[in-house]
Amino acid sequence: MNPEQAAVRQSAKEFVAGNIIPYAEYYDKSGDFHAYLLEATRTTGIFAMAVPTEYGGLGYCPLTQALVLEEWGYGCAAMGTTLSASILSMEAVLIAGNEDQKRRFCKPMLEAGLGAFALTEPAAGSDASAGVAIAVKSGNDYILNGPKCWITNGGVASVYVVFAATDPARGAKGLSAFIVERGLPGFIPGDREEKLGLRSSNTSFFFLKDVRVPAANLLGQEGDGMKIAMETLDIARPAIGALAVGLAQRCLDECVKHLRRRFPAKSFPGETLQFELADMQIEIEGARQAQHHTMALREAKLPFTKESAVAKTLCTAVAMNVTSRAMRLMGSHAYTSEFGKFMRDAKVMQIYEGTNQIQRLVIARSVLAPPRAAAPATTAGKK
Ligand code: CAA
Repeated sequence: MNPEQAAVRQSAKEFVAGNIIPYAEYYDKSGDFHAYLLEATRTTGIFAMAVPTEYGGLGYCPLTQALVLEEWGYGCAAMGTTLSASILSMEAVLIAGNEDQKRRFCKPMLEAGLGAFALTEPAAGSDASAGVAIAVKSGNDYILNGPKCWITNGGVASVYVVFAATDPARGAKGLSAFIVERGLPGFIPGDREEKLGLRSSNTSFFFLKDVRVPAANLLGQEGDGMKIAMETLDIARPAIGALAVGLAQRCLDECVKHLRRRFPAKSFPGETLQFELADMQIEIEGARQAQHHTMALREAKLPFTKESAVAKTLCTAVAMNVTSRAMRLMGSHAYTSEFGKFMRDAKVMQIYEGTNQIQRLVIARSVLAPPRAAAPATTAGKK
């Protein structure tokens, strides 16, 4: 971490302490969307932290973004998810959009609006290319039809990246990606999901009924959709890892606070319990390093698909494990909705943005790939 990154992390910590932690329990209980946050962040520009400076954003590098996301995960994973899912949609446009599309899509982000990434459908979750949403060219437009479900920010975003088949017969190669602005005729919003965890993050269904989208909103070329989705998810998965690490650290810190209250200094339980706490911290540190490593690879423009899947799997497994161990150490005190929020929020992290089974598939493909050719012999460094 350089001094600039340390300063960003410190200011995220302060923002979270003042604007997120005090309200997290209320919104978890009510399940209402934490809309106040958009107003609270308006002057910070944090929803545009991934937007490059040439488009007016903060232009944070991947590691700096991860530091912010960890702090938000520490404060409230639901609110962190609102931020990370908005960035996810932004990344798709940054990967595949042209200048005009980038500028148009960045605008709402700069104004603290939200984006949503609409890939999942009732019949297309893990099998991302099995959807029924279609886009048919009509003059200078595409007409989009079909359902989208389990979309984070689905009911509250101002702009969506929607995946639909332009050539259904070609499967993954027939999928395309479109920028769809909210409010277009035929965009039918659905109910939000009542979830076990991440309760104040908006997760919604919506339906597209003859929605006319200008052809200028097609990202890349027809048929590029699957690649755009996969490249975007490579970027987004370690970001979920950052949220998970923040959540796990908070849970451990709260567990320690409770144990200190419960046991006066002299009678603090011995090594068995202390080793449990140490093991939890070891897991968190390892997970944190895994996602930072992925961010560093991305920044160095090196391949990171496998590492992204490893980071997502490891960090979210650690979050689940830490929340479950903390509950065991704390006994019935932890079985309250307030403390249980950590475990409820952690569970879905093993599911969304590609289940951890899908991550294992991605990792296995890399492990089983034919070995790379050995690097050519070099005389560098030899006399
Ligand atoms: N980068 C670039 N291109 C990639 C890629 C990557 N990481 N991974 C695959 N591709 C390309 C492939 O090269 C292939 O193109 P070619 O045929 O031209 O070579 C194309 O994409 C299809 O790839 P596969 O043949 O590997 O596809 P598959 O059908 O076997 O499935 C999968 C791959 C990994 C299972 C994929 O379907 C997947 O990741 N599924 C999970 C979907 C997912 O993560 N959904 C989460 C939704 S978003 C969300 O949850 C956000 C939210 O709101 C919280």
